[in-house]
Amino acid sequence: TKHSILDLNSLEKTKIDFLFSVADRIAADESLDFKGFGKTGALLFFEASTRTRMSFETACARLGIHSLRLDGKAGTSLEKGETLEDTVLNVDAMNPSFLVVRCGDDLDLEDLSKKVQSPILNAGWGKKGHPTQALLDAYTIRRHLGTCHGQKVLIVGDVRHSRVASSHFELAQKLGYEVALCGPKEFLPESAKVKVFSSLREGLEWSTAAMALRVQLERHQGSYSLENYRAQFGFTVENLKHLSSKALIMHPGPINQGTELDTEVLSDPRCKVLDQVTNGVYIRQALIYLTVQSMSEAQS
Ligand code: CP
Repeated sequence: TKHSILDLNSLEKTKIDFLFSVADRIAADESLDFKGFGKTGALLFFEASTRTRMSFETACARLGIHSLRLDGKAGTSLEKGETLEDTVLNVDAMNPSFLVVRCGDDLDLEDLSKKVQSPILNAGWGKKGHPTQALLDAYTIRRHLGTCHGQKVLIVGDVRHSRVASSHFELAQKLGYEVALCGPKEFLPESAKVKVFSSLREGLEWSTAAMALRVQLERHQGSYSLENYRAQFGFTVENLKHLSSKALIMHPGPINQGTELDTEVLSDPRCKVLDQVTNGVYIRQALIYLTVQSMSEAQS
């Protein structure tokens, strides 16, 4: 059986714990009993990405798996009118060990996962979710604060358009951390099922990890004053005085510096933004390792 990872609802807690323990072994430079040589992984990025794409590619390289990349439309037969779905089916017919897909809402990964033979790892799917990002965030929290259970994670900003926030709502249920939101009314979901802080100060005082999201400028052009946003909801040196010295400052990237997070904050000792990126490789390596191992076990 193949195990696609499209969301985090379907990933059992014991599997997440095991994934984190494999990531710990990778981070500690322990060698894994794994032979990637001769295997391929197809990385299909139909939408822009820096971190996720390079992170999956690094993970493949460290496991000895050859990664095959398709970046955007240019130079592919999508330019000749081939559909996204047909593109994925054709790459799948080359028998990669797994498919990593980043795409918009115009591709139905759920439906596609039933048609392909290789497992699909969701690398950011429209507004639906970005499971490996939430996993690497939670893993970063666990590494710095010892456990995810009982932590208070404040997500600030453009939650309505955020696939990262969607995945955290799912993962929080599994790992027992609490998520609360803060941001301008028009950035938040119409009916939030979690605590909402209208004041950033109160939210920061409550939280053990505060995560700023990218203001999706392309969706708010002209409709919002970025200067007001920064003053009210920005992670500025001034605003972050209300966050405990032991709490974490996070951001999934890419950052609009000077809007949702100030440049000086990147050198705050509480800021784990680049650590999230480093941990992202361990998490994706662990996920690929477990995906390929379970395929091999199923075949033997
Ligand atoms: N965090 C994240 O998904 O970044 P990229 O869009 O650069 O991959």
